[in-house]
Parts: sequence; C-alpha cells; structure tokens
Amino acid sequence: MKMSIHSFIGPMIHSTVEGELFAHENVQIDIKSGIIEKVILNPKLDNIDKDNVKILKDGQFLIPGFIDGHIHAVQVPNIGLGYDKPLLDWLQLYIFPLEKEFKDNKFAEKVFDTVVKRTLQAGTTTACYFASLYTEASLVLAKKAAMYGQRALIGKVNMNNSQVTNYFENYENSIKETKAFIEGVRNIYSPLVQPIITPRFALSCDMKLMELLGDLARKNQMYIQTHISENAEEVKAVKAHFTEYSSYAAIYDAAGILTNKTILAHGIHLSDSELAIISKRKSAVIHCPSSNTCLKSGLCNVRRLQAANIKIGLGTDVSGGSSICILDAMRSALQVSIHLSFSKPEYEPLNYKEVFHLATLGGAEALAMNDKIGNFIPGKEFDALVIDLSASGFAFENMQEHSLEQKLQKLIYCGDDRNIVEVYVSGQRVV
Ligand code: GUN
Ligand code: ZN
Repeated sequence: MKMSIHSFIGPMIHSTVEGELFAHENVQIDIKSGIIEKVILNPKLDNIDKDNVKILKDGQFLIPGFIDGHIHAVQVPNIGLGYDKPLLDWLQLYIFPLEKEFKDNKFAEKVFDTVVKRTLQAGTTTACYFASLYTEASLVLAKKAAMYGQRALIGKVNMNNSQVTNYFENYENSIKETKAFIEGVRNIYSPLVQPIITPRFALSCDMKLMELLGDLARKNQMYIQTHISENAEEVKAVKAHFTEYSSYAAIYDAAGILTNKTILAHGIHLSDSELAIISKRKSAVIHCPSSNTCLKSGLCNVRRLQAANIKIGLGTDVSGGSSICILDAMRSALQVSIHLSFSKPEYEPLNYKEVFHLATLGGAEALAMNDKIGNFIPGKEFDALVIDLSASGFAFENMQEHSLEQKLQKLIYCGDDRNIVEVYVSGQRVV
C-alpha cells in the first residue's frame, strides 16, 4: 500500500559529490510531492506535527536508494545457472533460448512481477533494464515498474544480426517495433518509467541499425544502453566483424550512439584510446563485478576508468551476475578490486565508501540523473531506504555504540534485504 509522509526524523548517511560520506545522527528531511524540501540538522521536536512525521526507531537509519545500472530482467529465471561457458557460448546456449520464451506475455507477466518486487525489496529504487526483443513483453516490464513504483529505464532489445543467432528481427521491424515501444511506454504516463534505446552489442546489430537507433535517441532525447568490451573473445569477434574501425568504442562512436546519456556495461578490456573516446562523449560505464567473475570475463580496473574521468555506476548484470541485490554487487566490487591488487601491487583496492558511492550518487551520475536522485540534497526526489541492522544476523548484535559509518560498513559487508525494512521512491513507500 502506498502512503505519503511529509517528514522523516532520524540518522542518515549519504555520499557527497566529492565521494565522501556525510553522516548525521539526528536529521529531519521534509518532503513535498516526492521532492526533498529541507534537510534540518538537530531539529527541534517540540512542535512537530506527529501525523505527518515518521520518526525512525532506535537503531534505524536512512540511506539513498540503490541504483542498478545494468540488469537483464528477462534473465532472472537463469540466475545462478550456466556459468560453465564463456560469454558468447553462454549467450547462444542459455540466454537466447530463454529470452525467446518472452514471446509469451503470460510468462513475461509472471517473471517481471517477481523481478520488480524482488529488486525493490533488495533496495533497488532505480533500475536500468534490458528486456527482450519482443515489444509487448517489454511493455509488460514497463507497466510492472510503473505499478510497483520503481524508477526505471526499460529497453526493448535490438538485434538484427542473423549470423550470430537465430534470435533476431530484421532492420525494418527493429525500428518499427522500437518506435511502437517508445510510444507504448509514454502511454503508461508514469513519471518514473522511461524507454531506453537498446542495441544489444556490436555483434548483434549492423552499422545501419545502430546509426538509426542513434538518430532516434537524439530526436527523442533518449537514453541509450549497450554492452562494450566485456570478454576478450567478444572483442576479437567484434574487430573481425567491423574491420574498417579501429576499436570497439570507435564503432559505437561512428554509429553516433556514444552520448552523455549512453550507458555502457562492462568495459573491462578497453584500450586507452577507447577510454578517451568514452570520456570525451561523457558516456558512462557500468561496472558489473559479479557477472565479470561468474562468466570469467575479467577483472575490471575501476581506477583506470576513474583516471580517464569516466562516469561509473554499478550493475548486477543478472543473470551474468548471480544476485539481483546491489549490496552483493558492492561486495563483489570490493573483492574484484582486492583480487586486482594481488597482481598489481600499485593498485589501491576500492573501499566500502567508494562502492557505496557507485551504488548511489555515482550510479545517478552515470545515468545522468544526479540532478534528481543519488543523495539527500534539497530539490532531489526522496528515493530512500530505511535500514535496520537488528532485523537480521549475529553480525549486528550490540551495535548501539557503533558510529553510523561503521553501521554502513557492516551493512555493506554483512547485510541483506532483511535489513532493508522500508523503501521509498519519489516520497512514496513502495516496500
Ligand atoms: N553481451 C551481449 N548480450 C549480453 C548479455 O545478455 N549479458 C552479458 N553479460 N553480456 C552480453
Ligand atoms: Zn548485460
């Protein structure tokens, strides 16, 4: 059931633009029509209007909602399976056959209902989704996100390359269906849900299709999402397929699909010149550490992306990744960066504050939504999680004396969705 609350009082912690933590034990956040109006430190409690104020229980605290910058809603039935094959074989053997099942809207209805509910419960207030090739089923996902109140970018997948798979559509259909999909999402009239142009990756689309999708995105001021440089064999195949271009990123750039609203998953094996192109275009890379490990694609060097001044978010990349939960993605990012430091002693592993930033404000920057979401700044929308460490586990006993920073650190290393007791999107309670 949805309800609207005007003020929250309690401890809060969020990430700043500088990547620091801001934590305070006693804050009042006033919300009007979903927007944060005021953030008052040490509020006076004498004349509060009890009916319109929610005072957090002892031990609870507020953090911004999590942003999953890359998730395949259609692949959730395959989660935890099929990690015996590398990317290209995995797609052929397990993923394309599964995605074909989304021709059936009833199947789509059932899967997407679970996906949106479960991701919200896991604290994902914003999700950037890949759906399937099928317009109707992709619209089902958009409707579910709107119905359950999740902020979402939804992509009907584009693939017109018959050499790679028999799961594809021709160029004319791909464009026609994409236009119908955009129209369909707009007709849902949800301020939270938008369509995103989704050429799957260079091997599944020809240049003509990518160029037209780029035009469509420009004309409609839309987001674009795709995959880039995830797996060494994939990179080799892309180069063999597009011989006239100098790199994977150069192909996307020539097609006009690298914009400041382009979201690129993975980017593990990018060259310096590709990083420079992506940075110049102000496109974002979504780091998907669980997937990169499960599919043995490689260890993404996040410090290299940072040094190239590229916007970076975090993604589950289900079902390449084995969990829909961004807390798990944060842990995987920490572990991947530690593993990288074993072979590169000069590499400084990420810390818990940095992965929290990637999951919140960093993700918002990557999605070019940082004017709207990512932390608790007046003028932004109130997308928030109420955290209660006492809701689970021995790891959280006797936490009364711990600082908010320590509680956040414990949540990131040891927490799960049981600790996310309430979820708000644009001021509305959705869990
Ligand atoms: N590259 C192209 N399609 C996919 C996909 O579905 N998952 C991942 N991880 N990489 C891809
Ligand atoms: Zn993916």
